Amino acid sequence: VVPDGTRVFDLELRSGTTDLGHGPGTETWGVNGSYLGPTVRAERGEPVRMKVRNGLDEASTLHWHGMHLPAAMDGGPHQMVDPGTTWSPHWTVDQPAATLWYHPHLHGATAEHVYRGVAGMFLVDDPAGPVLPDRYGIDDVPVIVQDKKFDGDRLDDGAAMFSDTGVLGDEVLVNGTPGPYLDVTTERVRLRLLNASNARVYRFGFDTGLGFALIGTDGGLLPKPVGMSSLQLSPGERAEIVVAVPAGTSPVLRSSPPDLGADFWGTRFGGGADTMDILQLRAADRLDSNAVVPSSLAAQPDLGSPSVTRRFDLTSSTQINGKPMDMGRIDEVVTVGTTEVWEVRNVSGGVHNFHVHDVQFQVLGTDDPALTGPKDTVYVPPGRTLRLLMRFTDFSDPSTPYMFHCHLLRHEDNGLMGQFVVV
Ligand code: C2O
Ligand code: CU
Repeated sequence: VVPDGTRVFDLELRSGTTDLGHGPGTETWGVNGSYLGPTVRAERGEPVRMKVRNGLDEASTLHWHGMHLPAAMDGGPHQMVDPGTTWSPHWTVDQPAATLWYHPHLHGATAEHVYRGVAGMFLVDDPAGPVLPDRYGIDDVPVIVQDKKFDGDRLDDGAAMFSDTGVLGDEVLVNGTPGPYLDVTTERVRLRLLNASNARVYRFGFDTGLGFALIGTDGGLLPKPVGMSSLQLSPGERAEIVVAVPAGTSPVLRSSPPDLGADFWGTRFGGGADTMDILQLRAADRLDSNAVVPSSLAAQPDLGSPSVTRRFDLTSSTQINGKPMDMGRIDEVVTVGTTEVWEVRNVSGGVHNFHVHDVQFQVLGTDDPALTGPKDTVYVPPGRTLRLLMRFTDFSDPSTPYMFHCHLLRHEDNGLMGQFVVV
């Protein structure tokens, strides 16, 4: 039963050709178009129904990354959509304003489907939230960052010989655009950064040293804005930043080699160690005034105290706790209404992050300001243990699992994933 007033979204997975800077004939996939998909937007408290039609000639899924929702609506590997059919999950959006996203999540081929272009943003709005720059495309701008490699006009997903993390491209697309720039017409601009790349870790900063305010992480706003000049995002992570670009200047948002805490091989062939231009901001000579960033943004939810601690060892680039993903095995059983600590340890020495479906967690015991807001995906440096506090508030379903996994998509496909149910 779908409540009255449900907002319905029609999304169709399609194949086509797109000019990504290498001629008009590049074969790509997208949603309602040939590359990437529309920004889906809903308000906190709003019932939504997604009509996902698969117009491809192979089965896929669409997963709502970062969304709190019943497992059967999650769009993971158990919710395959066959070619020519439509899958219609529905739920009520019940979480703070955030920059979420959607992408395929089929077991064994997520990397390929995302790389071809199936992904888009899913913005949650909260009318009760603070006033921020919010004019879409003017002072509130989605920035979907993907690195790509081309072979002639063909998208090449071949990985380097020494890489087990999959393709590292030598070109960057923002929202599917090569060599992108943004005309800035306001005193401040809010950028919603999404690392939608398969494996590359970016370290964002401006070529001029221009600072910015971090206002939000994966699952919502921070308690208060944090000034910084560089910010690292691993695959799947998001950040909202607000930048005041001086009138008449054109700084370039650039990515420099990330700090992965890994050895030379891991850095070079794992997360990438390149300097790449991402997006030029071209500020007009006169800028319109717009919303300023308030000094306090959002109270963080009280997740309560944990009753269970679980250990997740990232054993290798194909195994968690010594086991590769098995669609028929439930790895963890969580009790609804409880708070847990998940201790995630990178024992493999490789480059990995960790993503948990259904929840936003707090990273315990860190003073990194980029980890002070709600997170659903976090980089786990080699040799380190991160303690993640999360609460499973509702949606018990003993028969449908949620996923947890590394978001370097080749690792996820190769087995660095597990399943939990909430009962
Ligand atoms: Cu963005 Cu389990 O995925
Ligand atoms: Cu990994």
